[in-house]
Amino acid sequence: MNAINLENNEIIQVVFFILLAFISMFLVLIMFFYFSRKKIVQIEVDKKNLEIEHQKELLNSVLITQEEERKRIAQDLHDDISSKLNVVSLNSHLLKTPNLNETEQLEITNNIIELTQKALENSRRIAHDLLPPVLEKFGLHAGIEELVEEFNSTKTVKVLYENSIDFESYPIEKHLHIFRILQELLNNSLRHGKATEVSIQFTTFEGRKTCTYIDNGLGFDSSREENQKGLGMMNIESRINFLGGNFSFTSKPNEGVKMVFNFN
Ligand SMILES: Nc1ncnc2c1ncn2[C@@H]1O[C@H](COP(=O)(O)OP(=O)(O)OP(=O)(O)O)[C@@H](O)[C@H]1O
Ligand SMILES: [Mg+2]
Repeated sequence: MNAINLENNEIIQVVFFILLAFISMFLVLIMFFYFSRKKIVQIEVDKKNLEIEHQKELLNSVLITQEEERKRIAQDLHDDISSKLNVVSLNSHLLKTPNLNETEQLEITNNIIELTQKALENSRRIAHDLLPPVLEKFGLHAGIEELVEEFNSTKTVKVLYENSIDFESYPIEKHLHIFRILQELLNNSLRHGKATEVSIQFTTFEGRKTCTYIDNGLGFDSSREENQKGLGMMNIESRINFLGGNFSFTSKPNEGVKMVFNFN
């Protein structure tokens, strides 16, 4: 009888320890899931915060660029238009001076004509900088062709442009974004990369409008943080965001620059 009791006790003890082991394992598992879940959530929160920070930086760069553009336009208007119209106005008043001889009258009139002509040319240039007329009249394809021609005419670089996308059905308000992206990329290739050859190719890849931009310039270490912080590149990124696209930018010292972006 005693032996049976002892055996029962042992079985109860074994069952108890097994149960305890299961409960501990269960608790350990729950704690493990709890903490790993917490860690995952924390990583996601950090990722979202980084994204928000990046969006803020982009917005900031857009605002700074707008502000700089305003300053530049104000300066252009002041120096190239207002100052000239000022002198025109002075000259026009001079015409009222009594007893002007014919030579004086002619000199003043010529001054007025010359200055109004210059003010007119400058106002055209300022308007052209704000919105290249070719874009509005003939669309993006013609706009890029004109831009490429402008760069090629400097003889310091040879730009090759190929396009198999029909931009005519592409919303006109988006044309200027693509145009400005290429303008900035070309400026960077010349200014920083001293590139002698550039290729711009528009194709449809996996159903998406895609642009591949390559230069053969000096390149730079694009993985380094300090090389990615210019306003120009930030603006390119925010324009691509606006167009609902993605991009990849790669460059290494002495290996030029390659940028691929798609857009809707
Ligand atoms: N095609 C390129 N070749 C070589 N370096 C480049 C090229 N494009 C960009 N970079 C490097 O990346 C940096 C950031 O370019 P980004 O256009 O953003 O600024 P930036 O040209 O210096 O100034 P800005 O705001 O006037 O455009 C440049 O300063 C340059 O060092
Ligand atoms: Mg730049």
